[in-house]
Amino acid sequence: MKRIAIFSSGNGSNFEAVAEAVRNGRLADAEVSLLVCDKPGAGVLERAKRFEIDTFVFDPKAYPDKAAFERQIVAELQRREVSLIVLAGYMRLVGETLLQAYEGRMINLHPSLLPAFPGKDAVGQALSYGVKITGVTVHMVDAGLDTGPIIAQIPVEVSEQDTTESLSQRIHQVEHGLLVAVIDKLLAGRVRLDGNRVQIDS
Ligand code: GAR
Repeated sequence: MKRIAIFSSGNGSNFEAVAEAVRNGRLADAEVSLLVCDKPGAGVLERAKRFEIDTFVFDPKAYPDKAAFERQIVAELQRREVSLIVLAGYMRLVGETLLQAYEGRMINLHPSLLPAFPGKDAVGQALSYGVKITGVTVHMVDAGLDTGPIIAQIPVEVSEQDTTESLSQRIHQVEHGLLVAVIDKLLAGRVRLDGNRVQIDS
């Protein structure tokens, strides 16, 4: 059994896509063992309740520094023997403590074709820039902001009528499928790192 932890700060539609894939057998021999959430009251917590998934909710302001809350996160992960961390809308840069414990076993979902538009509001950034194509990236997490080796990307066309809402909605639909597909390959041991390039065995 592969144990997954999902980190989310907000709505959690991607959390739900993964939880649902586990429930319906699309992700076999896997379990979402924990939701980590840094926003007490976030919508994702309601989803976790529906799926009866354990949560670790914390308020970063209640800790002296990042290392302090990350030490507690690592303890929660190790207690549940989590082997894969999925950052899905976790709006916080991962620090040394978490990275040291899980480097190579932590992926992030980002709503643009990286390295374009890293950081916050990637959809708004793409619209303001006026690109005709944006998309979705899943990558390994390293110490940088959205900089780790890229595992998979899917383009999404931007139309002239798009607003942040309409483009976000199409991006989310693509994200849900891509995130589950990448997790499936990772759990099957088909993802290999070769320098900064990721190879996927067929
Ligand atoms: C997703 O679009 C994800 O790519 C993005 O937050 C959204 C969360 O949606 N992540 C980032 O912007 C990280 N830099 P969700 O809460 O509905 O899953």
